[in-house]
Amino acid sequence: FVEVETPIFVKYTPGGARNFLVPSRLNPGSFYALAESPQLFKQLLMVSGYDRYIQIVKCFRDEDLRGERQPEFTQIDVEMSFVNQDDIFSMMEKLIFRLWKELLGIDLTQRYPGGVFPRLKFEESMRRFGNDKPDLRFGLEHVELTDLVVVHGGGGVPMLQPLAKKFSEGAYRKDLPEEIVKAIRIPAAQATQFSRAEIDKLEVFVKSMGAGGLARAKVGPAGEWIQSPMAKSATPGFVKAVNAACSAQEGDLLLFQFGAEQMVHTVMANLRLNLGKKLGLIPEIGASGDWNFLWVVEPPLFERGEKAGTWAAAHHPFTRPHDDSVPLLEKDPGMVLCYRYDLVLNGVELGGGSIRLHDPEVQQRVFNVLGIRDDEAAEKFGFFLNALRFGAPPHGGIALGLDRVVMLLTETESLRDVIAFPKTQKGNDLMTGAPGGVLPQQLAELKVRSTFEPASN
Ligand code: AMO
Repeated sequence: FVEVETPIFVKYTPGGARNFLVPSRLNPGSFYALAESPQLFKQLLMVSGYDRYIQIVKCFRDEDLRGERQPEFTQIDVEMSFVNQDDIFSMMEKLIFRLWKELLGIDLTQRYPGGVFPRLKFEESMRRFGNDKPDLRFGLEHVELTDLVVVHGGGGVPMLQPLAKKFSEGAYRKDLPEEIVKAIRIPAAQATQFSRAEIDKLEVFVKSMGAGGLARAKVGPAGEWIQSPMAKSATPGFVKAVNAACSAQEGDLLLFQFGAEQMVHTVMANLRLNLGKKLGLIPEIGASGDWNFLWVVEPPLFERGEKAGTWAAAHHPFTRPHDDSVPLLEKDPGMVLCYRYDLVLNGVELGGGSIRLHDPEVQQRVFNVLGIRDDEAAEKFGFFLNALRFGAPPHGGIALGLDRVVMLLTETESLRDVIAFPKTQKGNDLMTGAPGGVLPQQLAELKVRSTFEPASN
């Protein structure tokens, strides 16, 4: 590998995370973006013939912060030419096996004898766990009930009827649903830990993530639902079918969520983790000797855009679609799968990457789906598209979040525990007081004016 440093002050390109902007004094009215990653540079290096690139690099993202996110963080960033997904996986697996061996004395080959981590398809990951970074150390898997609700016309539950109707009338597609219904089953032995007050607490928790509420049912001796607002109206056939789908027994507690797909997934994924910790199935912090790695593969290339009927790039528009998905680009964009992958450890995304799109014709078609016109593409990514036209080798790469690797290796709670002078949740450096005010002359020199008005008391 050749180690190459790439610029931090870069041209703003749309998509991806929100960028920090730096006004240019020498070019008034123009701004640099701080690089969120060296993505396009490393691809340009492949075009120019450096076929093995590596850099340990600072990246900058103006995101909402939480325990595993800092505004500036470090990646182990890699790109290679003439490789496929398996080549990237095997190189990363070797790196991880070696890190765990040398730093922790742990021999991962005992758990993964072939030296490879298991792979889980994105679709399956969303269905069973509600996100693309599942913690596989415990069960409490989601049960997908959408089909069943549709078959039963809402099962007599008024709240479920509109959703069932939309499917049966063809407004929603079964293979690309806009709304879904899911359940989690808490087995009887553990369900006793959940008093009504405890479940109400869970409801407050899910509401904080945008849920309307938390529908629930306790399963009675004959399979009937008790302590459930749905018990009165739900038809016996529906109750029976749901119990069967969830493998529910007497005393089990069922928790339901329905509505917009993304909301249901997010709420149920976080609920699962919350329950896992509450029930002691996973520790509050750290691995406790259980290092559960996996690759999440084959996600869709596009996700629904903000406006109905539009599509946005799920990751970035330079990811290579599966060959057998290419004919679907115009016909059925939501079903196009791509060569993107994430490495996940105990529910944390350690790294992510993709095989890149090096074919200008397919690239053009992807832009069409995204509604990016030729002149826009030229204005936004012209430097990059020009380079691809010279002939790019097939290439791909990955970036590991170095801070996250260290956080997991040291079994600490937050990136703040492993970064010197970290930022708080609001992006403040408590040691130096950054970010801070500047003098009016400094802003004048940059031809920048602040519109911020302090709230008057
Ligand atoms: P991605 O955006 O998935 O991919 O980032 C790669 C890895 O970087 C880490 N990471 C973070 N760590 C701390 N704080 C953050 N705010 C933060 N954001 C990301 C994660 C993540 O898995 N250019 C592509 C890589 C590629 O395609 O080759 C990229 O940046 O561990």
